[in-house]
Amino acid sequence: MSIKKTESYEEALEKEELKEEREQAAGGEFASFDDALEAEKEQAARDAQAKADLDLPPDPDVLLEVRHLKKYFPIKKSMSGKVLVSLRAVDDVSFKLKAGETLGIVGESGCGKTTLGRTILKLHEPTDGQIFFEGQEIAKYKPSKMRPLRTQMQIIFQDPYSSLPPRSTVGGILSEPVKVHKIVPPNEVKDYVLKIMEQCGLRDYYYERYPHEFSGGQRQRICIARALTVQPKLVICDEPVSALDVSIQAQIINLLKQLQTTMGFTYVFISHDLSVVKHISDQIGVMYLGSMVEFGDKKSIFENPLHPYTQALFSAVPNPNPDVKMNRIVLKGDIPSPANPPKGCKFHTRCPMAKEICSHIAPVYKEYEPGHFAACHCYPQGEVNGPVKAVSLQDEAGEN
Ligand SMILES: Nc1ncnc2c1ncn2[C@@H]1O[C@H](COP(=O)(O)OP(=O)(O)O)[C@@H](O)[C@H]1O
Ligand code: SF4
Ligand SMILES: [Mg+2]
Repeated sequence: MSIKKTESYEEALEKEELKEEREQAAGGEFASFDDALEAEKEQAARDAQAKADLDLPPDPDVLLEVRHLKKYFPIKKSMSGKVLVSLRAVDDVSFKLKAGETLGIVGESGCGKTTLGRTILKLHEPTDGQIFFEGQEIAKYKPSKMRPLRTQMQIIFQDPYSSLPPRSTVGGILSEPVKVHKIVPPNEVKDYVLKIMEQCGLRDYYYERYPHEFSGGQRQRICIARALTVQPKLVICDEPVSALDVSIQAQIINLLKQLQTTMGFTYVFISHDLSVVKHISDQIGVMYLGSMVEFGDKKSIFENPLHPYTQALFSAVPNPNPDVKMNRIVLKGDIPSPANPPKGCKFHTRCPMAKEICSHIAPVYKEYEPGHFAACHCYPQGEVNGPVKAVSLQDEAGEN
């Protein structure tokens, strides 16, 4: 506050107060802030970081490394074919995943989980970014170059009903990829398939049966067995239990865990349900509107969830300890469209902790403790000096 010498103290104070009142009435500290220019600056900074990271060698200690991955779907084009509006389904996502570990990806429907999984497998062509699989940069691989890698990267879908061909027997479905990819000599195919079926909890007489004869849980076991026949290293499980009854969900998750122990698979496990992800994951990534808003190992995410969105997701998970009182945090409003995400922090339109800065400046995605990243203005945006403690939404929810 600057006070002119000719004015009395009271006059100056009154003027300052008036000025502050006017600023607040006009929109506060950011009243004359140019949001569009800020968004451009943020994008330029992100692009510059992605460019700088291009030359970094891949991490030799991980199976999968994703850097600044983007998948934009064009939704409006000009007459000449120029893209006018894109839907940013995956927008600058980076993470690393070690062999034999499970990364759980959570977030509400439409936040880009499936697109992320499919883009990693190159079932969608990435718009930008790098994907290192065992140190090979596959993001720009042509389909012919991807072919030999296809067996090493498999996907299990949510819907076990539509993902199995109805006119083939279970034996036929499971034998086909084994024959196509010449996994074992032709005379050993049946024995090999029966062994995989046994590992997946499928009886040998199922070999001659058809998918429609089975329940959802059994069909998902067939889908898992089919993915495993080609001995993949990475399996993307896209909501593999969401269509199943709760008791069956636990069985399928236990099967996936068991197969991981015996066969050393690496999973990306996608789910909208944090309680499901909790049981299987080593690392957890929380997505909102195409962005990773928090990422870390299970312990840090569960014991010290930093991002208000993660905390809101947690509040919906029943706590088995009756002494721990959790208030359900109900987020207001609908999820905005990824074709036109809110400026600043994409979550600000629904965040109970939102401050004025949140609607103008996007928070930086920073590492707050080793391997634990978050993007939120509640935490230091510059230098981080030691681990930070979560700002809790629970206190606010308790007052409601
Ligand atoms: N092929 C596509 N073309 C255009 N938009 C798409 C396509 N696939 C997904 N989307 C959009 O991308 C966003 C993320 O979708 P998705 O990855 O399926 O989310 P999630 O799996 O988290 O529910 C959604 O807004 C969805 O409508
Ligand atoms: S940056 Fe602001 S709006 Fe975004 S999550 Fe943090 S407090 Fe909420
Ligand atoms: Mg999905």
